[in-house]
Amino acid sequence: MKIRLDNMSARHPAARRDAAAALRGLSLQVAAGEQIAVIGPSGAGKTTLLHVLACALPPAVGSLQLDGRDPWQLPRRQLQRLRGKLFLAPQVPPLPPRQRVVTAVLAGRLPHIGLWQSLRSLFYPTAIALADAALARFDLSDKLFDRVDRLSGGERQRVGLARALVADASLLLVDEPLSALDPTCGQQAVASLTQAARERGATLVTTLHHVEMALQNFPRIVGLREGELAFDLPAAAVTPERLQALYAQHLHELTGQAPGEELPAVASPAVVMYCR
Ligand SMILES: Nc1ncnc2c1ncn2[C@@H]1O[C@H](COP(=O)(O)OP(=O)(O)O)[C@@H](O)[C@H]1O
Ligand SMILES: [Mg+2]
Repeated sequence: MKIRLDNMSARHPAARRDAAAALRGLSLQVAAGEQIAVIGPSGAGKTTLLHVLACALPPAVGSLQLDGRDPWQLPRRQLQRLRGKLFLAPQVPPLPPRQRVVTAVLAGRLPHIGLWQSLRSLFYPTAIALADAALARFDLSDKLFDRVDRLSGGERQRVGLARALVADASLLLVDEPLSALDPTCGQQAVASLTQAARERGATLVTTLHHVEMALQNFPRIVGLREGELAFDLPAAAVTPERLQALYAQHLHELTGQAPGEELPAVASPAVVMYCR
């Protein structure tokens, strides 16, 4: 799916009236099948951007176009059909506690095939095989029939990603997929996600806290800062200096240091390590 944002601003319905809009004057074009990582300090507007792209939050100013059409101008049925082609994986997947992993994963197909067919499909081995294949990509095959509330935070997060893979979506929007994963597991999860998106030709927009992971796995990086586009560059062009500017006053998020700890000097090895 193609994305186009023109001078788009967005504000949350619950935001204070005098608060600045969460996103301001954003223009961006993403080709069908492209993969981009959105980085930037907390509060920069990364999650809000995913919500706008998921047609969950309408632009207050400017416009959004998906495959050349403004979703907010579409008749309701067409908007619903379009939403069926979008999949938003939130940072904390909403998984009912007593649900089995297999059911939770197959729920990713709900927008496409409807509740009844989805429940019925649980009894078909093809659907179970589909869930199993998605889980295998995240090293979770052995959890197929486990209860969701018996999983660790990291396992739950990967179930949320497996759910994205069974969805028949042409735009995958993934919010902080690695927040509960250790680096090795995180690298594997990102590799599985990007590969699966490539295989099905889906566009992938991921927000990522781990800058290094973003630079290593995504060809194009969008930097957001205080609701505005700071840069939109090929990964190779994202220099340590740009990252320092993007995370200025939030350097602990870039270096993994706790706030208040002494920050490394500009050219220290710690920063360089995160800026490859
Ligand atoms: N539900 C909400 N209601 C009101 N304001 C919100 C809401 N969610 C986020 N915001 C505000 O929007 C801005 C961007 O937030 P967010 O998109 O969550 O940033 P990020 O994901 O980059 O950390 C922040 O200033 C935040 O306070
Ligand atoms: Mg966020």
